[in-house]
Amino acid sequence: MEKAIITPYIQQRPSTKRPYSSLRTILALSLLVVCVYTGLFAAFRTLDTKSSVAKVPINAPQIIQKCSTLNVIPGPPQDFDSRKESDRYVLGTNPTLIKNATIWTGNVKGLEIILGDLLLDKGMIQAVGEIPGHLLNMYHHLSVIDANGSWLSPGIVDLHSHLGDQSSPKLSGSADTNSRKGLVQPWLRSLDSLNTHDDAYQLSIAGGVTTAVILPGSANAIGGQAFVIKLRPTKERSSSSMLLEPPFTFNGTGIEEVQPPRWRQLKQACGENPSRVYSGTRMDTIWAYRQGYEEARKLKVKQDAYCEKAVAGHWDNIGDFPEDLQWEALVDVLRGKVKIQNHCYEAVDLDGIVRLTNEFKFPIAAFHHAHETYLVPDLLKKAYGQTPAVALFATKARYKRESYRGSEFAARILAENEIQVVMKSDHPVLNSRFLLHEAQQAHYFGLASNLALASVTSTPAQTMGQGHRIGFIRKGYDADVVLWDSHPLAIGATPKQVFIDGIAQLGSPFVRPKSKALQHAPKTPNFEDEKKAALEFDGLPPLGPKESVSDVVIFQNFDTLFMDMGNGVEQVFAKDHLGAPQIAVVQNGKLNYIGVPEGYSTNLTTTPRTVDLHGGSLAPGLLSYGSRLGLVHIAGEATTQDGEVFDSLMDEVSSTLGREAVVIRAKDGLQFTTRDALLAYRSGVTTAVTAPYSSGLLSGLSTAFNTGAAHKLKEGAVMQDEVALHVSLSLSSSVSVSTQIAMLRRLLSGGARGDLELQISRILEGKIPLVVDVHNADIMASLIQLKSEIQEQTKSVIQMTFAGASEAHLLAREIGAAGVGVIVSPVRPFPSFWDMRRILPGPPLTQYNAISTLLANNVTVGVGVESDGAWAVRHTRFDVSWAAIEAGGDISREEAIALASSNLEKLLGLASGTVSSSLVATAGGTILDFESKVVAVASAKRGVLDLF
Ligand SMILES: *[C@@H]1O[C@H](CO)[C@@H](O)[C@H](O)[C@H]1NC(C)=O
Ligand SMILES: *[C@@H]1O[C@H](CO)[C@@H](O)[C@H](O)[C@H]1NC(C)=O
Ligand SMILES: *[C@@H]1O[C@H](CO)[C@@H](O)[C@H](O)[C@H]1NC(C)=O
Ligand SMILES: *[C@@H]1O[C@H](CO)[C@@H](O)[C@H](O)[C@H]1NC(C)=O
Ligand SMILES: *[C@@H]1O[C@H](CO)[C@@H](O)[C@H](O)[C@H]1NC(C)=O
Repeated sequence: MEKAIITPYIQQRPSTKRPYSSLRTILALSLLVVCVYTGLFAAFRTLDTKSSVAKVPINAPQIIQKCSTLNVIPGPPQDFDSRKESDRYVLGTNPTLIKNATIWTGNVKGLEIILGDLLLDKGMIQAVGEIPGHLLNMYHHLSVIDANGSWLSPGIVDLHSHLGDQSSPKLSGSADTNSRKGLVQPWLRSLDSLNTHDDAYQLSIAGGVTTAVILPGSANAIGGQAFVIKLRPTKERSSSSMLLEPPFTFNGTGIEEVQPPRWRQLKQACGENPSRVYSGTRMDTIWAYRQGYEEARKLKVKQDAYCEKAVAGHWDNIGDFPEDLQWEALVDVLRGKVKIQNHCYEAVDLDGIVRLTNEFKFPIAAFHHAHETYLVPDLLKKAYGQTPAVALFATKARYKRESYRGSEFAARILAENEIQVVMKSDHPVLNSRFLLHEAQQAHYFGLASNLALASVTSTPAQTMGQGHRIGFIRKGYDADVVLWDSHPLAIGATPKQVFIDGIAQLGSPFVRPKSKALQHAPKTPNFEDEKKAALEFDGLPPLGPKESVSDVVIFQNFDTLFMDMGNGVEQVFAKDHLGAPQIAVVQNGKLNYIGVPEGYSTNLTTTPRTVDLHGGSLAPGLLSYGSRLGLVHIAGEATTQDGEVFDSLMDEVSSTLGREAVVIRAKDGLQFTTRDALLAYRSGVTTAVTAPYSSGLLSGLSTAFNTGAAHKLKEGAVMQDEVALHVSLSLSSSVSVSTQIAMLRRLLSGGARGDLELQISRILEGKIPLVVDVHNADIMASLIQLKSEIQEQTKSVIQMTFAGASEAHLLAREIGAAGVGVIVSPVRPFPSFWDMRRILPGPPLTQYNAISTLLANNVTVGVGVESDGAWAVRHTRFDVSWAAIEAGGDISREEAIALASSNLEKLLGLASGTVSSSLVATAGGTILDFESKVVAVASAKRGVLDLF
């Protein structure tokens, strides 16, 4: 019976900083210690005396053991701190010394920075800072990297990803995230869907992502169990081998159970998604939760009663330990052993979940998406056990009612309320390769730099219960680190090398030179007033200008001036060159003087207003193309938008060609003052070209409008009624590519009737461009042939522009030779569909990016946003900045601005002068910098200067 003596694990190392849980553990353990010994004693006594017929089950010791561990809170093994080798160490991995790095460790609330070295071996960080010579002398084959002072951070940790479960490119079997078989299904496991061939693993690693929590989708109230993976490929090539500290039971009884157990993860969701999928209401969803948790509670009560009997030695008819494979995960929730990742947006839903946690007494690890959490910090603090962390997108919002009040200031407001902030990707919703960019944007809008870096490293690591081994740079931690080519919060930061478990992930990384200025965290602008307004107006602050003026305004103290003088964007003034201070004078929204103050004479009787730009800049207003901006308030709400066009071409394909087709004009559906348009405007995107929304072949005629205008009838609101004719060709269409090309050929060679015939003739006369949404290189090749075929027939030149164009770089030379222009979107490519899978990812995976490759082949290149990207139009200035920085010296600042202004103007066939009719003033830096903020926008067509 010696073996029956059980030594319950005594938690010596608190698994979490939260006092309640360790306290609870210790209390539970003390009780158990007492109980276990009493129970065993009772058992022995029964056996010894043989005085009764009570039958002690043969597995009594196992039962007692199980009972003793029921309430042990998960955490690292007792001896974890003294481990010599990681359980994920791959034999043969060379030890690596990274010398002379600027190390952001994550310690001291993310404020510690160490200048020094890092030694990686056995899958672990063996030493940080000054590394003793005797330690180094022990190594014979040490890979040495001289970091030359480069920034080094822990690997990026994504708390919310669907990598592998919703893999890319999207194929019929790749949407494996949402089961539609019930509202509450805690028994499902994301691991069972984890595809090892997602193209995105490698791409995300190239962005520095090393670890992610793979969550089931949000179609269910309880969608299933989530799993933590490391992204690197494994020798075994299996899904299971990617897991980090899986719960012991994940593959049956394969891993020896030790105590304490490991953390489990569970996905929950509230609000619209479960309601929509199950045609229910919020009331149904919360009831489903309560039913589920009531099942679990009853099971837990039975288990506890069973254990009470067992430890008391009351073995009579004790039966089997009450278990239920469907509800065991929720019982573990009630025992405090599960990190709940809860998708939840609005105050109403957050309130429902907070009540649920108090009714059933379990904590939530994090609320995800959580667009209204910043409005209700006190509510979050009422959650049972601990205040949940909040996992956010930086700026993606307004795509559904639940996200309508989302704010770019949420991260800083939550942090100011002492709530843990995490930035997450929801990959592939956002491409997790650029998860760090979410942290950069949160920082831009006011989250402190230490917290911004922590939000994608230490904070998510701790929130998922892995803070003992990832998310920090500390001796004994996993060797998951990233060496960056600039400060990680500087725009365009790109890994020079990424280590996971000490293994270098980038075979031959391409590194482009970065400026000195990018080696520091940007000094971001002051958004204090905007933040206050977000709170004051309950998430819907007014977005219009503080003032609109027609009078003379004089801009002073700017360092650069970019203008489009008819030959593309040029830098016409830089302080460095001229030295003398310059002023720019705007009247009636028009720039009417640039030069030294002495040169400006006025007969005004009053002193004109002056605006100090604090070393800022003036630049042409930017242009955006590709999204449904101006047609949509809330994409997910049918009643808030123009809607989808009737596709006369796709309807009855065979009979259509001879019939009259109606051409839809986006101008007729324009909606002004959408929040996305106003945010775009105050971010320097003054003009948008929007085509009618279509999922078919023919969209219609686009229109150009001023994003800051109040309504269509205002002077200068519509800048060009009809811009271009838009069609879309793809492998995802309901008819074949060959049919799509055939239809286009018929249209262009006299097959169209009525209005469509008229528009086609404008294309053939070169009066408007044909803009083709297309990603696939083979379809582009067919289009290039079609273009020359038609031109041959009609002896005319067609202006053709490819939009999207993820694979255009494969035909860069041919596209250039054919005189076709390209609007690249998304700017940073991602293989969402088969059409788009052959991307040119850019550094560190390839030397060049698609934009610089196309430019090098004399292609006119613009940047666009995706159809559902109205929320992202405001980022245009950072998108072009990123593209230029990524291209090293290949793209100048002027060219970067041109990508979203003069080049687009040309590619869309806008009247020249459209771009130069508006002017954007930024304070603190140029329109391309994280240091700057748009303070004024002038529109000559509207005759006003708007001041923010
Ligand atoms: C450090 O500088 C050396 C010499 O210029 C160079 O070979 C090496 O690649 C640099 N290291 C990094 C990590 O950039
Ligand atoms: C570290 O690198 C920086 C930048 O190259 C250099 O100035 C410095 O001297 C280096 N320090 C050491 C200790 O090598
Ligand atoms: C279960 O997983 C563990 C850890 O990866 C492994 O050691 C064990 O062999 C697996 N068991 C089975 C039966 O596959
Ligand atoms: C002031 O100057 C403007 C433009 O130079 C001119 O049109 C206007 O007549 C002048 N007004 C007076 C009162 O001189
Ligand atoms: C691009 O144009 C320049 C100047 O016209 C010419 O020298 C160069 O050869 C062209 N490059 C390509 C790839 O066509």
